[in-house]
Amino acid sequence: MSYLEISGGRTLCGEISVQGSKNAVLPILAACLLGEGVCVIENCPQIGDVEDTLEILRALGCSVCTCGHTVQIHASGAGIYEIKRAEAVRIRSSVLFLGALLGKMKKAVIPLPGGCAIGKRPVDQHLCALEALGARFCIDETITASTQGLHGARITLAMPSVGATENAVLAAMMADGETVIQNAAKEPEIDELCAFLQRRGGCIAREADGTIRIQGGRPLGPAVYRMQADRIVSGTYLLAGAATGGYVKIQNDAGQTLASLFSVLRQMGVHCGTSGGAAFVQGGPVSALSYVETAPYPGFPTDLQSPLMAALCRTQGTSCICETIFENRFRTVEELLKMGARITVEGRCAQIRGVPALRGSVVSAPDLRGGAALVIAALQAKGRTVITDTGYIERGYEDISRDLSCLGADIRRI
Ligand code: UD1
Repeated sequence: MSYLEISGGRTLCGEISVQGSKNAVLPILAACLLGEGVCVIENCPQIGDVEDTLEILRALGCSVCTCGHTVQIHASGAGIYEIKRAEAVRIRSSVLFLGALLGKMKKAVIPLPGGCAIGKRPVDQHLCALEALGARFCIDETITASTQGLHGARITLAMPSVGATENAVLAAMMADGETVIQNAAKEPEIDELCAFLQRRGGCIAREADGTIRIQGGRPLGPAVYRMQADRIVSGTYLLAGAATGGYVKIQNDAGQTLASLFSVLRQMGVHCGTSGGAAFVQGGPVSALSYVETAPYPGFPTDLQSPLMAALCRTQGTSCICETIFENRFRTVEELLKMGARITVEGRCAQIRGVPALRGSVVSAPDLRGGAALVIAALQAKGRTVITDTGYIERGYEDISRDLSCLGADIRRI
């Protein structure tokens, strides 16, 4: 069992590049199942969620080769449409194979994704969208989906769900005729999926209001695609820099996707921005943040809510964070309290009263982003912190101790 050992109190300083985007690569890997020819994904992050997704692709009959950060997938041999529970259990985004399998094989059998650490995470919007495209479902402990043939449709999502938008896009690429997805999620990871499908010859475009329009049924061919930097990993390290009062620069070709974080950091008195393909923070003492709520893109991302909370623990004054996306994303609070933080939670809102210092403790990562938040807290704490259950962190961060060591942190994976 591995754990992270961090001695706090160092000011982070330096420049690093970050891994490719997790949330963009997972739907792109599912999209490799469609069409013909070899897909080469460059700058693919080496993380647990990617390894599990590649295992699913292999089990479906794809040929998968990895070499460092490059992954090569050939789906011509794929003929299996069932994902076994053992393959899907660790990774919630296995639900994205529903749209891809329906598109490729007209059938899909997928274990019903259960609730997870951060909340209930229903899939009703995924099913409604696929139903509009001509799919039928039988649901017990698994989702059994089939179609006589997918057809284009006008879909209006009840909420801009990232996963439902991705599933609708994947199925619609193989459906006859035009599909229009209204109230589609606007997250940049969806735009990366669209760019990848365009590269493969697909006809898909985003309109000014966020609507996605697809001319389905076009053949998809081989492509080489390079993943953009992960905006959540970038944001985590920028928050770590701000919280330690340091100077951190992240090589990131998509700095504009961090605009909501920059707006929050500026309210906290932190000098930050983008310059020459990089995003930076120049910390000083961090001020309290009167109010922020998480929201779909371009709002403040729920995935940075816990890291932000950790960065607010030592400010003068009281900050308030409201979580509007997932109902169970305050599990980090209990661990931060062990480190001396003063936080109270009422419903979906947390009040963080700044304390002069945090103390090193033994804490356990409650989920992926909550684990990253504990790292940020530990970097500021007096003394040594041990973080257990680091498997969660490794699902999304390629090597958080390598990256933060490069910035001057005293952190070791043991
Ligand atoms: C994706 C991201 C995750 C991020 C989240 C929100 C990936 C692999 N994961 O998750 O990191 O935190 O977007 O930005 O990309 N909902 C329904 N019914 C549905 C689908 C969603 O009610 O059918 C609700 C959810 O409970 C949640 C909200 O919609 O309250 C947003 O969920 P969604 O955008 O679907 O998140 P994911 O795609 O699961």
